[in-house]
Amino acid sequence: SQALIDQACKVMEGNDRGSYTVPTHGLYPFQWNWDSALSALGFSHFDMDRAWVEVETLMAHQWEDGMVPHIVFHEPDDGYFPGPDVWQTGQSVPTTGITQPAVAGLALRKLYNRAEDKAAARTRLVELLPKVHVWHQWFYRNRDPENTGLVAIIHPWESGRDNSVDWDEGLDAVPTEGIAPFTRRDTTHANPDHRPTDDQYQRYIWLVEHFRGLRWDNTKLHDASPFRLVDPGFNAILIRSCDDVAELAEILGVPAMASEAREMATKGREALESLWNANLGQYTCYNRAAGILQDTPTVGGLLAAIAQVPPERAEALVRRIALLSERCDYLVPSHDPADDAFDSKRYWRGPTWLVVNYMIAEGLIQSGQEAMAQRILAGSLRLIEKSGFAEYYDPISGEPCGGGDFTWTAAMVIEILK
Ligand code: DGY
Repeated sequence: SQALIDQACKVMEGNDRGSYTVPTHGLYPFQWNWDSALSALGFSHFDMDRAWVEVETLMAHQWEDGMVPHIVFHEPDDGYFPGPDVWQTGQSVPTTGITQPAVAGLALRKLYNRAEDKAAARTRLVELLPKVHVWHQWFYRNRDPENTGLVAIIHPWESGRDNSVDWDEGLDAVPTEGIAPFTRRDTTHANPDHRPTDDQYQRYIWLVEHFRGLRWDNTKLHDASPFRLVDPGFNAILIRSCDDVAELAEILGVPAMASEAREMATKGREALESLWNANLGQYTCYNRAAGILQDTPTVGGLLAAIAQVPPERAEALVRRIALLSERCDYLVPSHDPADDAFDSKRYWRGPTWLVVNYMIAEGLIQSGQEAMAQRILAGSLRLIEKSGFAEYYDPISGEPCGGGDFTWTAAMVIEILK
């Protein structure tokens, strides 16, 4: 409804800092990578120029090696830990030293497709597209050194699904000894029961200090990390963005870029099949450091739907989501409610997130699974009507969790309703 769209625009405007948005005041006071790309989709329905600016600002902070960092620390803010003094990445505008899901390619394609002034959109795309393409190449060069077609993340924060059960075993291999003492700030802004645990934070920080000791040299970090996890959702988003870059490169008349992007996508899509878990009927994470395909029933394996998977896989994912819908009222839970590790309120260990719903639905629609996609989107709007623009929601009760007035949640509402 228009009233809901108006409210969503207000939330976005409240978090707008001019050339970028913060995910939410207090808890996340800087620019986050995938938040920005998805938020641009929301802007594109009421301020197209502002939508491009969001992605332009993000890509302006791309590293020389091609990486696009997960946070850009535009303005100092003591309310967040770990800040630039911990990361010490040496960038002129400070950034973190790790990356996040590569949603920007998908965002560019949507922005271009819906732009009324194609000439203006083309001008902006000419600048942006090569940067996004270089980022994708960075991924396969640095995070897939053995050329398997699948990239690994080296820190849970890279996944965007920080404390997912997917990372538990991988984090067991990460020590906690020797790290500098620190005080968390996230738990002063949000209910600690909705956040990662202290033990997890210690391991997050150990990894940051370890990579810092290697001077953030991405030619070394993958092999030097005790944590190397191959996430189907993360890879699928990258594959989808490579597809989108290929399409856009064709439109711009850059065939070399188009064929490089297509090659990455094709190889990635073939390799994704190795993450199919027949026990669960969904994709699951592969712990590359340990050489184990996990049995963790998380939404990472359902997000794979976004990569236009084979039809029988898309059908199986729909069956799996239908099963989850018997276990909770609000699809799609980030963890299977039937599993012992499920926690309905703790961040990525159970709660439902609108951005994830959107991306799964997007993929299902592409695969012709319209009915389940619409069901997921309708459920998303029920959550908003019940509990407002929260960071995430309890999938059983629908209660709001984490931060409030959340930018990308609002952006998804606009995207769904427009
Ligand atoms: C946080 O600080 O919780 C973020 O998710 C890290 O990116």
